[in-house]
Amino acid sequence: MTTPNDTSVSRSRLWALPVLRRFAPPAEIPADEAGGIDTAGSHGAAEIVPWALPGTALRTQAAAARRGFYAPVLAGAPTTTRQAEILNTALIGPPTGTRGVVNGRDVLSRTTISHDPVTAYNSEPREVSSPNVIVMGDVGAGKSSHTKCNYVVRPLLLQGRRGVVFDKKDQNGEGEYSNVVRHYGFEPIRFTTDGTGTTLNLLDPMIARGTGVKGQTRLLNIVTRIARGDQPLNEWEEEALRAALRRTVGQAHGRVPVLADVLPNLGLVVDDDDYRTLSVTARDDLHKAGLSVKWTLNGLLDEYAGLLDGETSAAVDLSGKLTSFDISQLPDDGPAVPVIMAIGNMWMLGRLRSERTSATTVVYEEGWHMIGGPSAQLIKANQKLSRGLGISNVFVMHKGTDIPKDSPGMAIIQEAQTVVVYRQSRPEDALWCQQTFGFAPETARTIETLADGHYIFKFGSHPETHVEHIRSEWERQLTNTDEGLSVGTIF
Ligand SMILES: Nc1ncnc2c1ncn2[C@@H]1O[C@H](COP(=O)(O)OP(=O)(O)OP(=O)(O)O)[C@@H](O)[C@H]1O
Ligand SMILES: [Mg+2]
Repeated sequence: MTTPNDTSVSRSRLWALPVLRRFAPPAEIPADEAGGIDTAGSHGAAEIVPWALPGTALRTQAAAARRGFYAPVLAGAPTTTRQAEILNTALIGPPTGTRGVVNGRDVLSRTTISHDPVTAYNSEPREVSSPNVIVMGDVGAGKSSHTKCNYVVRPLLLQGRRGVVFDKKDQNGEGEYSNVVRHYGFEPIRFTTDGTGTTLNLLDPMIARGTGVKGQTRLLNIVTRIARGDQPLNEWEEEALRAALRRTVGQAHGRVPVLADVLPNLGLVVDDDDYRTLSVTARDDLHKAGLSVKWTLNGLLDEYAGLLDGETSAAVDLSGKLTSFDISQLPDDGPAVPVIMAIGNMWMLGRLRSERTSATTVVYEEGWHMIGGPSAQLIKANQKLSRGLGISNVFVMHKGTDIPKDSPGMAIIQEAQTVVVYRQSRPEDALWCQQTFGFAPETARTIETLADGHYIFKFGSHPETHVEHIRSEWERQLTNTDEGLSVGTIF
């Protein structure tokens, strides 16, 4: 019977044979003789140092060379420089530092990725010049899970932070963030079109507090435009709207003015002293322009009476750590969703003016309504104010190919300094991301095939990274949108 020892003896004899000798592996060194670099810097006997090796062994025999075998004995493994980086840990240090909150794990180096747009914006020197974030990806790729964890739940652990969400996705009759909001002890602010929900007043004085009468006029202009399916107002209509708003604000109502107060004034614009010197035709044109805006807004009020007609409901407040504007029950088509997002955005700017103690992350689920339509002008016009008030906007959307080039929406996308791209299975969408966000050319292909929960991440001047979003068990239950959830089982 042979013992293991016998085997090793016979093997070493085998390697001593004349031909095999040339292919013998390096002699094994007993463990006690082995050792790394000692304190003095010299190497132990087992340390293999590259400068002591003879280099690549070549087939030098003439016969083999003639048959095309004049090449290294061992063929190297094909690799790209990027793959080879993993072999040199000195070069592949973690792509981010540890500030902010953990966002996931770098797939290549397996180190954690940490980032928080507000922390990065406030750091010295600034790591990002804008705290805004774009989260993009196919349906069901993991965008909302990412947003809930990395921009809502985890940053709320930090001091002086608050979250506001425009929650669009319906889950069992309410928004998908409802259970998260309740976890913090608050109720979502529900919007419905049947008159049972909350009202947002387009003329709320809070809006003028944030952006002045100019901001209020701009909002009214954009809401009219949204109501007309993105058809812009001409200069006559803009003038008529401005005049009607001026008149409404100057009138005594004995209460806060509401949209219904503007409508009669739109038909009386020409009575204004400012227009008395106009020619009859010009006055006629202005009158018609006023009526055209009046009829658009009339239609909007008719359709969404409970939503827009009246003073802002008392429930609309930002007193909690997390506030949700639950717009999940509003119809997908039509102006309701973008109109509520636009009014809510402007209302918030006014509300935050009087309270600057926290940094506020505002999440726009279905952010396309803000970026892809006329409301992008509001965001663009108020960008500076918004940064000054400590707001970080997070726009979650499916794709960017529909956003017109040179539009304000495109400018917002290019200005955002934190970019998260989940799977985009259509090659044209993936290519759009690669080109718009300046990713490496081969990343377009990677974006097409990313698994659920995987994303390409870029912020500030840091290189793009393929990241896996890792959720705790609690977060996994919280973000699982595949099945109905009961609050009781989660918390
Ligand atoms: N980090 C993750 N790891 C593994 N699976 C994930 C991860 N995040 C999300 N998923 C899976 O993907 C599903 C959809 O996630 P999520 O609702 O976040 O996608 P979405 O991109 O927001 O979809 P939609 O476009 O419909 O809003 C989840 O229910 C979960 O099963
Ligand atoms: Mg989602």
